[in-house]
Amino acid sequence: MSAKQLIEQLPAAFLPEVAGNADAVFQFDISEPCYLSIKNGACKFSAGHAANPSLTLSADDDVMKKVLTGETNGMVAVMTGKMKTRGNLKLGQSMTTFFDMDALAGGGRKTKPSWLKRTLGKLLSGTAVKPSTPSASNTDVIHAADSDCPFHQNTSEKDGFVDRLLYMETPVDPPGDARNPYPEWAARREKNRVEIETDRYGENAGTLVYLYGHAEVAECLRNNEDFSNAIMQNMFGSVMGDHILVGMDEPAHATYRNLVAPALRPKLLTKWEESLIQVVVDELIINLKAKGNKADLVADFTFAYPARVVGQVIGLPQENFEQFQRWAVGILEGAADPDKAAECAKEVRVYLAPFIEARRSDPREDMISELVHAEIDGKKLNDEEIYSFLLLLLPAGIETTYRALGSTLFHLLSNPEQLNDVRNDRSLVNKALEETLRVDPPVQLTPRIALRESKIGSTIIPANAVVLPLLGAANHDPEFIDDSDRFNIHRSPLRHITFGNGVHTCIGLHLARLEIKIALNKLFDALPGLRFDDDEVVKQDAHIRGKSFRSPTALPVIWDTIDAKTTGQD
Ligand code: HEM
Repeated sequence: MSAKQLIEQLPAAFLPEVAGNADAVFQFDISEPCYLSIKNGACKFSAGHAANPSLTLSADDDVMKKVLTGETNGMVAVMTGKMKTRGNLKLGQSMTTFFDMDALAGGGRKTKPSWLKRTLGKLLSGTAVKPSTPSASNTDVIHAADSDCPFHQNTSEKDGFVDRLLYMETPVDPPGDARNPYPEWAARREKNRVEIETDRYGENAGTLVYLYGHAEVAECLRNNEDFSNAIMQNMFGSVMGDHILVGMDEPAHATYRNLVAPALRPKLLTKWEESLIQVVVDELIINLKAKGNKADLVADFTFAYPARVVGQVIGLPQENFEQFQRWAVGILEGAADPDKAAECAKEVRVYLAPFIEARRSDPREDMISELVHAEIDGKKLNDEEIYSFLLLLLPAGIETTYRALGSTLFHLLSNPEQLNDVRNDRSLVNKALEETLRVDPPVQLTPRIALRESKIGSTIIPANAVVLPLLGAANHDPEFIDDSDRFNIHRSPLRHITFGNGVHTCIGLHLARLEIKIALNKLFDALPGLRFDDDEVVKQDAHIRGKSFRSPTALPVIWDTIDAKTTGQD
């Protein structure tokens, strides 16, 4: 059966009770283009091109057939560049659930209906609330009978903030418990430092390779000839455009990186330190203290902080920060809600356009001016390249730093003796941060795709495999570091691979370190006796969480007020 013939049969397998009141047009760009229109509980096939499709899927006929029948995971096909998507991505994730593939002539998928399929009808027909956050209140209807739901049930939304990425599962998530995946990774490292998984999505669905050892992770990240970053472009291109630095390979990557890197050079950081970063921290601390002597440092400090710094560094006016923060959140949660991320990215581009234009004739001391005027050997960045870079800064520069700062606080608050050492000797702030980055990297996965058959260590990696170097597993490798699971700021040497390795090594690492050190020092100065609010920690079940991203779910703290200190009361 050809791909077109398969799609032609789909209306006969349509499940109106699952599609509910969905109104969508799916365009299939295959050798014989065709589309499906879904409206009023009916599904119609047409040949050719739709005028205004909700989602366009482009792939070879064979790949399209495998995705439709569930033989290949759609997200993996997109990551490996075998399928391209344009439009409403969330519809793409749910599309195959609209059809009973088993009812098709020639057979189809034989898996049990997914959590999504069982709940989608309710969601689309409005009888259940969309599972947009893991808050208990809005997911009760869905969670009741669904143990495989990707969202946890015991989380509550506080002050409108919840980090949905921490509760999300992705098709490439490594194995292990999201609270503490390291024991599982250690056990797997013992057996196979390079683990090849071929059956997660069924035969022919593509190979996933997990790297658990430090030497293997470093080798893969350094070998940019055999292992390509194009996978990142495939995953995030629809949100960030065609020029994602971290999704490029050589030589285009080097040219682009050389043009953008000066916008984060140390001389600028020195300038920003006093005029900008310290000012942002001071403002946040004033708000914090206005609350009394207790707060959740995630909702009330760490989450807002890097977004404000990056907004200022880019050169955006302060009065737009709240909007900028909302866009940033929308883009950061792109993996949970790709639709919203694409929409936010569009709005950010429209918002940035006049700034880019203005800085051409009137440069200031900000990143947009640096990017607009950057030039090497007569080559300058075009507008699209500038948009892609600025959009990349939201996940790369905000999310990472917010998580790293939160985890550093969490580890110190959980180890009061080490916290005391740091409070009394500020030269240890740096060590506390580096040990946190080792123990709990904010980003665990830096995916690559194998361009050809090659080797890592002595293991053969097949061509087209998705390779997943696990930075946290590498940092916990006993062959790399002794007593590797213990948080110990006094260890020597303090080293890790959390900022990557090779040509893609983080270009924001100096800014990240500076931001975090300033925040920690100022928090310790301003909040004497800062400590966990133990009752709240238990009540909120605060913990560091995540397998692809890691950071605390909450940081409930208390501190001594001046009054309490002078009167000797707490
Ligand atoms: C603790 C904070 C941070 C961590 C842990 C971190 C981690 C990383 C890692 C692991 C990579 C390499 C990705 C790969 O090899 O595929 C990377 C790349 C990158 N980071 Fe960071 N990052 C942090 C903060 C920042 C900041 C503050 C910025 C900018 C403001 C930034 C901008 C970038 C960019 C643009 C790249 C791409 C570099 C390239 O592909 O050449 N990062 N980061």
